[in-house]
Amino acid sequence: MTNKYMYFIANWKMYGNLSSLKTLDKVIKFSKSKEIKGGRLIYCPPNTLISSFSKKFKNCQIGIGGQNCHESDVYGAHTGFVNSQMLKNIGAHFVIIGHSENRVKGESDKLINLKIKSALDAKLKVIFCIGETLNEKKKKKTHSILSRQIKIGLKNIKYKSNIFLAYEPVWAIGSGLIPKHQDLFKTVKYIKSKFKDKLPKVLYGGSVNPKNITILREINNIDGFLIGGASQNAKKFIDIVKKTYS
Ligand code: PGA
Repeated sequence: MTNKYMYFIANWKMYGNLSSLKTLDKVIKFSKSKEIKGGRLIYCPPNTLISSFSKKFKNCQIGIGGQNCHESDVYGAHTGFVNSQMLKNIGAHFVIIGHSENRVKGESDKLINLKIKSALDAKLKVIFCIGETLNEKKKKKTHSILSRQIKIGLKNIKYKSNIFLAYEPVWAIGSGLIPKHQDLFKTVKYIKSKFKDKLPKVLYGGSVNPKNITILREINNIDGFLIGGASQNAKKFIDIVKKTYS
């Protein structure tokens, strides 16, 4: 149980279409009720839906974000991409950067650093994903991997108050597995220890669901959750928030 102000970020990945909009009614109602307590909801749908979500959320407090952006903050010949200015222009206030599903396709720490810079310049808040693979975990490299991802990803970025760190162990994403309580507490503590002045908000992501939230909510240095699969189901998403506070 917690009374903390917590972030619940829905990562819809490459799912959803216009007919998904009606599933948001329940969530909008919930967001206006007292039951939401200290929870802040943010949806990151595919780019094709950002504008519709933005209209739908016009009279409520639910935030909207993109799931990635191009590193260039000027318009240009980059077929198939959108940049942070474009996301901002259609109503996004957040953007996920460095998700492992994009790192695995070749996004380097350096490229992620450029993307974060361009997003911050466009006045977007960044959900910066970091996390180790199963192999790296087995080799006890979790800390060194996170340290490298943070160091290069945030190189030459002075003002970090608009950055959320999302710790997503790659082996936990979509697998139904979550880290052990003590391990997760220590990893989040380690991530926070990398920041000297102001501690960043650190979210956890990877197989969060209405069942395991009763374990995750007890880890008191976590500031919220990045939720994939379960966030596409309004009831599950709401249950996760409710159970965090019950
Ligand atoms: P999952 O995804 O909740 O489906 O594991 C989380 C994520 O990839 O952000």
